[in-house]
Amino acid sequence: MKKLETREDIEFLVNTFYKKVEKSGIGFFFNDIAKVDWSLHLPKMYKFWETLLFGQISYKGNPMAVHFPINQMVPMEKQHFETWLKLWTETVEENFTGETADLAIYKAGNIANLMAYKMETATKLEKLS
Ligand code: HEM
Repeated sequence: MKKLETREDIEFLVNTFYKKVEKSGIGFFFNDIAKVDWSLHLPKMYKFWETLLFGQISYKGNPMAVHFPINQMVPMEKQHFETWLKLWTETVEENFTGETADLAIYKAGNIANLMAYKMETATKLEKLS
């Protein structure tokens, strides 16, 4: 199987992942809640992953911040992050091998856990206010 090493690999990975996401139980967050413009979202995600995996600093943004307003509309729960991570891990493993592929799974897991915690906390605080 192929190593994850080029920008084209990232584009393939991200495109394949979001095709799965759209068909899954978390697809509605993208299509119905945030109503994402895929022609903008996908290139942003290429840059995000290129920055994380290749140290090519092309993504500038705050990945946590964009999720709070979505979470306010529909709480993003643990089960949603589990689905996200399962699909990401599956997509990486089905297509790539090697250290960078492992890193893609590892980093996604860390960010997903942190994000899940932050969204849960925000939801709890919202309920108190
Ligand atoms: C249940 C899990 C998740 C859902 C439903 C979700 C949903 C979304 C949506 C709807 C957007 C588009 C926001 C917009 O442009 O209006 C977005 C953006 C983004 N997401 Fe997620 N996300 C999830 C998990 C993650 C995780 C685990 C990561 C990182 C590993 C991540 C990284 C990003 C990044 C980098 C952006 C673009 C931020 C920017 O605009 O700069 N997301 N997400």
